[in-house]
Amino acid sequence: MTEKRYSVNVSTILGISASAVLLLFIFVLVTHHRDVPDRVRQQRSALTSSGSSVAERIKPVGQVVVAAAETKSEPVKIAAASPSARDGQQIYQAACVACHDAGIAGAPKLGDKGQWAKRIAKGVDTLYASAVNGIQTSAGVMPAKGGNPALSNAEVKAAVDYIVARSK
Ligand code: HEC
Repeated sequence: MTEKRYSVNVSTILGISASAVLLLFIFVLVTHHRDVPDRVRQQRSALTSSGSSVAERIKPVGQVVVAAAETKSEPVKIAAASPSARDGQQIYQAACVACHDAGIAGAPKLGDKGQWAKRIAKGVDTLYASAVNGIQTSAGVMPAKGGNPALSNAEVKAAVDYIVARSK
């Protein structure tokens, strides 16, 4: 008799906990499935409220790519145009004048034909290379691009052309 009552108790407890688990499961299931349509409805209204067609909705992806391509190509255009936009004299005034105007630290002075003659005799390509990469002899130290790495090679060469034109 006690054995039977015990087994009844056990099955009751098991039944209660099983239905509790089942209820919990159903609760989770229902809240989950109520939640999803809400989110879907929100997203759908966000999409449709703009009144856009499917074609318009997918268009921004294309615009982003086009815009990126445009901003990418623009600096290239600016860089290509800069040697003419900033001529040799302007670059010289900005990056080279500090040493080459007064002949500081062994720098050959602008317009000093005597100082420049033997350098110009090396050929303009050698002068370009010295100005772009820097040069160090017993005369002094010329830093690469005059210590201004932001300058393009073309800008440095334009400045060399300016110096050479004024110094021969
Ligand atoms: C920090 C000072 C300094 C600045 C700034 C500077 N130079 Fe020089 N430059 C020198 C010195 C010093 C020499 C001589 C180096 C040597 O012959 O050893 C020199 C030499 C040169 C030469 C002759 C190179 C050769 O092969 O004989 C050229 C060309 C030249 N500079 C161009 C430029 C240009 C262009 C700029 C600006 C973009 C510039 N320099 C900025 C110090 C400078």
